[in-house]
Amino acid sequence: MRVPSHSVNVRLLYVSRAVGPQTTTMTTTILAQAHANNPAQGITGVLCQGQGFFFQVIEGERSRVNALYRRISADKRHQDVEILHYEEIHERRFGQWSMALVHLSVDDPMVRLQHPDFDPYSATGAQVMQQVMDLLETGQPIQLPSA
Ligand SMILES: Cc1cc2nc3c(=O)[nH]c(=O)nc-3n(C[C@H](O)[C@H](O)[C@H](O)COP(=O)(O)O)c2cc1C
Repeated sequence: MRVPSHSVNVRLLYVSRAVGPQTTTMTTTILAQAHANNPAQGITGVLCQGQGFFFQVIEGERSRVNALYRRISADKRHQDVEILHYEEIHERRFGQWSMALVHLSVDDPMVRLQHPDFDPYSATGAQVMQQVMDLLETGQPIQLPSA
């Protein structure tokens, strides 16, 4: 893939619904794939999962982010994949993680307090991005260091 010397970096946020139960095995496999592929692509981000949803923020060079998104959105482990937010960035927010994992639980008192009527498909991209940031701060991210 051609990457121009002055590369444009972007941040993409999507939401999706898991197909079937979100087992530990499924999450572990997805994270292992992310950890195996993302560092070489200069991709960083965070994956939130729980309550039948995935949210994922992917940051990196535009054509690489777009290519990864095309691959992920064709993945049969989830459906209803929808981009909620896409922007060009000068700085990464999740640059320290090749893909961090945080668990989303609506029973989490922090989540309930701050986002009582949270529905990712009707929320704005900014709201879901804020939720992801809150989860990273208040939840305990399982960290995969970026290479
Ligand atoms: C919710 C979700 C998130 C994913 N995130 C990533 C990711 O960050 N990086 C990645 O390479 N694959 C990710 N995948 C897996 C890809 O869809 C695809 O299966 C994988 O990249 C294929 O890589 P492989 O050819 O090395 O097995 C994700 C899949 C799902 C369902």
